[in-house]
Amino acid sequence: MQKRVIETRVSVYSFDELPTGCQQLINAAKEQVSNAYAPYSGFHVGAAVLLENGEIFAGNNQENSAYPSSLCAERVAMFYANARRPDVPASAIAIAAFAKGRFVDEPVTPCGSCRQVLLETEIRFNRNIKVLLYGEKEIYMIDSIKDLLPLSFGKSNLK
Ligand code: THU
Repeated sequence: MQKRVIETRVSVYSFDELPTGCQQLINAAKEQVSNAYAPYSGFHVGAAVLLENGEIFAGNNQENSAYPSSLCAERVAMFYANARRPDVPASAIAIAAFAKGRFVDEPVTPCGSCRQVLLETEIRFNRNIKVLLYGEKEIYMIDSIKDLLPLSFGKSNLK
C-alpha cells in the first residue's frame, strides 16, 4: 500500500493586490448578482468568463421551483460563452456571491457539477482557465480548473 498526496495551489489576494484585469473580471461577476433569479435560496451568484479575444460573457444563477432544474451562475456563464463563441478559448472565470444583503466574506467555490463543466471547456481548448473566487475578506486565484478537481474524469478516460 502507498499513500499519495494531491496538492492544490491557491494564491490568496486582497482586491487591491490584484492586477487590473482580474479586478475588472471580478467586478463583472459582482454586477451580475443583481440579475440572479434566486427566490428559493436567496443566494445570488454572478460569474464572468473572460475569453482569449478579450470578450466577457457573464451570467448568474437561475433557480426553479423544481429545484434540480436550476442552474448555477458558472454554468450559465460558461455555456453562454461557449454557445456564442464556440471557437474561442476561455482564459479566466470570476465568481461572486451575495446573500443576506452583502457579498459573502469567504471566497465562493463552485459546486462539483460546475467544476466538471468548466473542466470540459479547459480540455476542449487545451488552455488553462484561471479561476478567481471572490470573498469580501480575501480572493482565491487558482491557475487551472484541474486544481479544483483532482482525479477528474475527462475525455481521455473514454479512450
Ligand atoms: N450556486 C451557484 O450559482 N454557484 C455556486 O458556486 C454555488 C451555488 C447557486 C445554486 C443555487 O441557485 C444557489 O446558489 C444555492 O445553492
